[in-house]
Amino acid sequence: MSARVTPKQAWETMRELPHLKRIRRGDLEPGHWLTAEPGDASGAWGSWGIKATPSKRGLTLMNLIEAGDPPPPAEGYATQQIRGAAMDRQWPLFPMTYSANKRYQVWADNVMALYEEAVSRQWSATKDIPWERLTPLPKELERALCMICTHFTRVEFLAADHLGEWLAKIGYAYHEVKMFLGAQIMDETRHLEVFRKRAFANGGGMGSSMQPKMDTAAVLGLMPDQVSIRADYNKNSYAVQFIDEGIVLDLFRFSEFLCQTEVDKIMFQRIMQDEARHVSYGAMRLKFYLENCPDREEETERLHALADTLEVSHAVAILLNPDTMEPSAVLAGGGVSGMDKGYEAYRKLYVRVREEYLRRCDTVGFSRRDRCLLPPEPPF
Ligand SMILES: [Fe+2]
Ligand SMILES: [Fe+2]
Repeated sequence: MSARVTPKQAWETMRELPHLKRIRRGDLEPGHWLTAEPGDASGAWGSWGIKATPSKRGLTLMNLIEAGDPPPPAEGYATQQIRGAAMDRQWPLFPMTYSANKRYQVWADNVMALYEEAVSRQWSATKDIPWERLTPLPKELERALCMICTHFTRVEFLAADHLGEWLAKIGYAYHEVKMFLGAQIMDETRHLEVFRKRAFANGGGMGSSMQPKMDTAAVLGLMPDQVSIRADYNKNSYAVQFIDEGIVLDLFRFSEFLCQTEVDKIMFQRIMQDEARHVSYGAMRLKFYLENCPDREEETERLHALADTLEVSHAVAILLNPDTMEPSAVLAGGGVSGMDKGYEAYRKLYVRVREEYLRRCDTVGFSRRDRCLLPPEPPF
């Protein structure tokens, strides 16, 4: 083990730093950064003379690009270079490796606008839900809503976990995407917070945090390879922001429709507004990916192969999960005695979720109408 550096050694080492010695000598001449021309070979300065003008909404990321902030490059940097800045050549470059460092992998034409919207529409689960106006529900309905809240709490954790690890894996050239993901993770965090608060706000509590029911998918041999999905931003985003959050958005809409108290409706409306942004990025990113990847035909086939496993397994885990179906049927039927009517409503939801998914696939130029493995008729 090396000996600990003493405070005296630290002091002496710092005093030997050339720029600190210069200051002590009284030489206060600043570095080349103060006068260098943008793009100068020294790498002392990046850009100059850009004056972004605020729009009616304020100074947006779009205003910066309009004014001359360089747009995202096709290839990211293998360093900590910041877009628009230079890299000072007098120091050795510190190499960085990013798993997602190409524009076609991460970009979506709406990502800047979605980030701006996310920031301007942040809300507080503490004070923006009128909790004091919650009214008691019959026990079966309260229990059903609490079960749904418990299930959704787990789903929100999953979304944040799957995307969170990508914050460090996307290159600095795509700061807008990193900012959007940061905002999305804040949204998911607030969602799990609000579901938790709802479960404890009206005399109920948390239900059971069961694991996803993947048995059907396993029987069909349709278990997706989670390791390979998590290691690839395209697969990960398709799984989370295209399939899962699309299904979840429809489930939130359904829950909002079923809720009997004004407060619960407000809660789901707030959540849906956030969730729609996540799905919107997921769809536009996939569109950009397919339109700009090096080999569209090959990528489309790879994506079809992934969709063949994910559609069924994720629908089973989220939409056909008894943790969601049973309490939804109780709420839709007005209680256990009306569950047959409740399942009738859930069958309609199933058809709607499938159609919305196929429509989203059409929108991004990835038609699944001939290949979709979700049966058109509800399998229940
Ligand atoms: Fe969410
Ligand atoms: Fe989400």
